[in-house]
Formats: sequence, structure tokens, C-alpha cells
Amino acid sequence: MGKRIDVQDLHVYYGSFLAVEGVSMTIEPRSVTAFIGPSGCGKSTFLKTLNRMHEVTPGGRVEGKVLLDDEDLYGANVDPVAVRRTVGMVFQRPNPFPTMSIADNVTAGLRLNGVKDKKVLAEKAEKSLRGANLWDEVKDRLNKPGAGLSGGQQQRLCIARAIAVEPQVLLMDEPCSALDPISTGKVEDLIEELKDDYTVVIVTHNMQQAARVSDKTAFFNLKETGKPGHLIEMDDTQKIFNNPSERATEDYISGRFG
Ligand SMILES: Nc1ncnc2c1ncn2[C@@H]1O[C@H](COP(=O)(O)OP(=O)(O)OP(=O)(O)O)[C@@H](O)[C@H]1O
Ligand SMILES: [Mg+2]
Repeated sequence: MGKRIDVQDLHVYYGSFLAVEGVSMTIEPRSVTAFIGPSGCGKSTFLKTLNRMHEVTPGGRVEGKVLLDDEDLYGANVDPVAVRRTVGMVFQRPNPFPTMSIADNVTAGLRLNGVKDKKVLAEKAEKSLRGANLWDEVKDRLNKPGAGLSGGQQQRLCIARAIAVEPQVLLMDEPCSALDPISTGKVEDLIEELKDDYTVVIVTHNMQQAARVSDKTAFFNLKETGKPGHLIEMDDTQKIFNNPSERATEDYISGRFG
């Protein structure tokens, strides 16, 4: 599991507005990559192009290529729904289905894919909840609604839901921004474990978090509001935080900008 992502000269548009310009990067399988940069520079927009989620926005489109182990995600015969199964996503605010039970939340995608066998579903639920470090906290209340969990538990529930369909890549857009430090720590521990199996990409405004969890860091920036965001540099996280190649990166991480 875990696929390589190759992005080649990607431009992302909302209608006629060019939101992200000319991004090329390679994301190695079974690694954690952090996207950092000021608000509005296109981190979420670019992240969503890695599983075609931006197409849900009317007018959302790309020019350029995204390859997943050499397969073009935007190829003529590629089904975006299948792409989203291979490349899962976790959002900023935990969004469990509120009235659905904890177990049903986890297996929602599987049931949508036609899995009906109760035993299989129960096994998958347990495996995914264990994978998301949530099992011990919820094993006695699997049939209670997902909305009854704390924010941090809900976010791990959403991660369990995302990994239940066995994606190759997991995209996370500021997954800890609504969480307290203890829950954040748990999600960060989980990200560390997930990279054994998955290719993980995380957007974060928290520099310490990027430094803690990621192997590679990509810094995005924009010249001014209304101008497209672009990739300034991507490198080993150690290098980005200790000795970046670009002045703009140094200014940003040292808090002189953004
Ligand atoms: N649905 C949309 N329709 C039109 N423009 C959009 C849409 N979503 C985002 N944009 C624009 O695209 C640009 C990039 O936004 P994006 O949300 O990707 O930035 P971001 O780096 O994730 O910011 P933040 O750190 O605040 O989350 C912004 O100019 C934004 O206004
Ligand atoms: Mg964003």
C-alpha cells in the first residue's frame, strides 16, 4: 500500500480564477508530507486536486497532470469516485454522520461499496478503529451515535472511516486545528503510524506540527491577495526548518511574514 504522487505543472482554477499556478512535486510512498503557507495561498485547493475533490466546486478544474504510480488521475477513462476511494480525505472539522452509530460511521463507505456481510463489516470496523487508535475508547459503545464522541475522538473516527475503505493515500486538511493539545498529540501519533502503510499529506498552520510529523515539507506562497498561489520549495522537513533555500520560506517559518 501507499502510492507515489507525481504532480506536473498543475494549474488549478475556480471558473476563470487561477487559484494555484504551476505546481510540480513528487510525494514519495509511505511518507508524510506537510503543506505550509499563509492563508489563501491554495494549500486546500491544491490538496483537493490530489483526489479530484475540487471538482465538487462548480467551475473547479485543473490543467497539468497528477500521476498516482504512473496512472493519470485526470485520464479520460478515470472515474473520480474511484479516485476518491484510492485517495481518501480527512477534513478540518470532524464530520461524522451525527445520528449514525460509531460502527456504522466507520463502515459507511464499505456499505456504499456494497459490502453487506455483518461479520465482515464488524471486523472492518474493529480493524479501522484500532488503526485510528480509537478502539479502546469506543469498543463498549459501538452502537451509540458518532456525535456523542469528543472532538478529538470524532476526528479519529473520521480517520477510521477514511482508512476503512483501504485507500493508498490519505489527505488531511488541518486535521488538528479544532482539537485540544492532547487530542492533537493522539492524531499526530496516529499519523506517524499511518505512514507505515499510507502516503500521507497534511496541511497545517502549526509549524511545530509540520516539524514533528512530516518527512518532507512544501511551502506555498502568493505574491498578493487575488494572485495565484504557488510552490516556493519542497524539501526534507529538517532542511526547510533549519536551512531553507529560499528567503521567502525563511521569512515565513521565522514569523516575519504570514
Ligand atoms: N470554492 C471556491 N470558489 C472560488 N474560489 C475559491 C474557492 N475556494 C477557494 N477559493 C480561492 O482560492 C484561493 C486559495 O484558497 P485555499 O482555500 O485553497 O487557500 P488555503 O491556503 O487553504 O488557505 P487557508 O490556510 O486559509 O485554509 C483563495 O484565493 C480562495 O479565495
Ligand atoms: Mg485551507
